[in-house]
Amino acid sequence: MSIKIISKSGVKTQNTGKKLAGLLKPGSLVLLNGDLGAGKTVFVQGLCKALGVSEHVTSPTFALINTYKGIFPKTGEHADIVHCDAYRLGSLEELYDAGFFDFGEDAVLICEWSENVFGKNKEPGCIEVNIVRRDDISANYREIYISADGGEGEALEAAFH
Ligand SMILES: Nc1ncnc2c1ncn2[C@@H]1O[C@H](COP(=O)(O)OP(=O)(O)O)[C@@H](O)[C@H]1O
Ligand SMILES: [Mg+2]
Repeated sequence: MSIKIISKSGVKTQNTGKKLAGLLKPGSLVLLNGDLGAGKTVFVQGLCKALGVSEHVTSPTFALINTYKGIFPKTGEHADIVHCDAYRLGSLEELYDAGFFDFGEDAVLICEWSENVFGKNKEPGCIEVNIVRRDDISANYREIYISADGGEGEALEAAFH
């Protein structure tokens, strides 16, 4: 299941991230791709805000990984959020070495530039977010594609339509 959202502002992209946050649960894996400046981090900012993160979410380009404490809005359960920027990484092994998988199976894992480490073969159960800049239309125009399989995909469709 795949959905497409048009965003003409950072706020809209953040709100799209917020909406997706409602579908996340312990162990969710969110893989983001799109060119530099597409809005991946802006999307994650909205997502984290909806998970109750009060800190300002920034790109972990140099730190590789940032972690946040949040709350799943529906259940009130505690959420460990791990946010990685794999821009400088080239393999899944490097993602392991960066500590991405060190927070237990209940953590919410979010990875920008995931194709650098996961390639095109996606992990089962993951949610993919692809943000496409449409500079040909206007400077702030983005197409956001979100896809997921199985039950996750149905929930996605229900949440966004
Ligand atoms: N529709 C939009 N959605 C997201 N960001 C936008 C949009 N229009 C303009 N921007 C700007 O584009 C930049 C996106 O930056 P960022 O989220 O860090 O990109 P990425 O993480 O994909 O490299 C921000 O400066 C943001 O204000
Ligand atoms: Mg980024």
